[in-house]
Amino acid sequence: MKKVLVCVGTRPNLIKITQLERCFRSYPDIEYKLLHTGQHYDYNMNDIFFQQLGVKAPDVFLNINQGSQIEVISQIMKKFEEFILDYKPNLVLVPGDVNSSFACAFVASRYNIPVAHIESGLRSFDKTMPEEVNRILIDDVAELFFVTEPSGEENLLKENKIASKIHYVGNSMIDSLVAFMPLIDKSEIRKNITADDYYLVTFHRPANVDDSKNLKIVAEILTQISKKRKVVFPIHPRTRKRFHEFGFENVIENENIIITEPLGYLDFISLVKNARAVITDSGGVQEETTFLSVPCVTLRQSTERPITVTEGTNTMCELEVETLLEILNSIDKGAYKKGAIPKFWDGKTSERIAKEVNEFLTNH
Ligand code: UD1
Ligand code: UDP
Repeated sequence: MKKVLVCVGTRPNLIKITQLERCFRSYPDIEYKLLHTGQHYDYNMNDIFFQQLGVKAPDVFLNINQGSQIEVISQIMKKFEEFILDYKPNLVLVPGDVNSSFACAFVASRYNIPVAHIESGLRSFDKTMPEEVNRILIDDVAELFFVTEPSGEENLLKENKIASKIHYVGNSMIDSLVAFMPLIDKSEIRKNITADDYYLVTFHRPANVDDSKNLKIVAEILTQISKKRKVVFPIHPRTRKRFHEFGFENVIENENIIITEPLGYLDFISLVKNARAVITDSGGVQEETTFLSVPCVTLRQSTERPITVTEGTNTMCELEVETLLEILNSIDKGAYKKGAIPKFWDGKTSERIAKEVNEFLTNH
């Protein structure tokens, strides 16, 4: 048996792997195990996805989430080292760009265990983002690069990665959208929060929420857009904490702003699908809106997912009220782009990943 160890720790990681285990079942010589670092731990940030999306319970749980980023990363590394020295996986598969993915990839590479990276090659070219540094470091130690869009391939080739190790497989986040669409369409969330015509908003990037000046602008944005229509704002724990710390909670106490806990995937995507527009700083949400052909305005300086802008429905915007309002007006006038779905965002990415991993392990 060849042992494939998939390592997750956060909400977006989970959305990227929901179909993987099923696809690996086609390869009886592969033992598939799931390791969870514990980085995200609230029920609504973690357990709900296992419950609703049928992701198998982790075989290994490291339970690490306390302390600074470096404390979390280093504790994950230490415990992960102990585990892999005992388990000896043949390949470690990490999705995305979060601290858990970096910590596990780094330790695996130190023991010459091949690392495969899902969502490889994405670059925002902004090293003030922790995720950008994580992406570069994971790709530096990876041996198999699974790419979601052409920019990923181009970036990896510019970084002198070997072309035969780069596989354009598409987007495994979209696999979840395709697989769960019938359940998403049954969600009653809109009825429950009595919102028909609304903007859906998410914010959690440190650049936007950890700086009180910028978080004040976020609060102002929420207030201004809530004058146009209702705003649904499922709030990330980091963001909730900052609103409280900086004393801005009352700014967003407004009957047109519906604040919810982080939502389960089915309810959240139902809200995305039916929104007038989505205003976000999320990575994954830029891709989901492109697939669903919903206008998305991303309030960041740069995106590591340029195809969502060039082919999809995404527009980049400064963290600034006036420009955002202009874009929202163009959406109201029906003048906004409709976008197209990028190649291989078709619900079959996890199948392609399993096939490539099997080939790699057979030849390795
Ligand atoms: C992390 C990822 C980010 C990703 C995001 C997805 C890194 C560097 N960042 O950011 O790329 O976009 O997850 O949501 O890995 N917290 C809770 N409960 C939870 C999780 C977090 O209360 O279940 C709070 C804690 O106070 C924690 C803070 O949020 O200190 C930040 O959590 P952390 O995992 O460090 O970063 P995220 O902002 O969630
Ligand atoms: N998501 C969710 N509930 C929410 C907010 C987001 O299920 O309340 C899902 C969303 O559909 C996407 C993923 O979580 O699949 C994105 O996570 P997030 O924005 O936290 O991380 P990022 O993609 O920015 O790393």
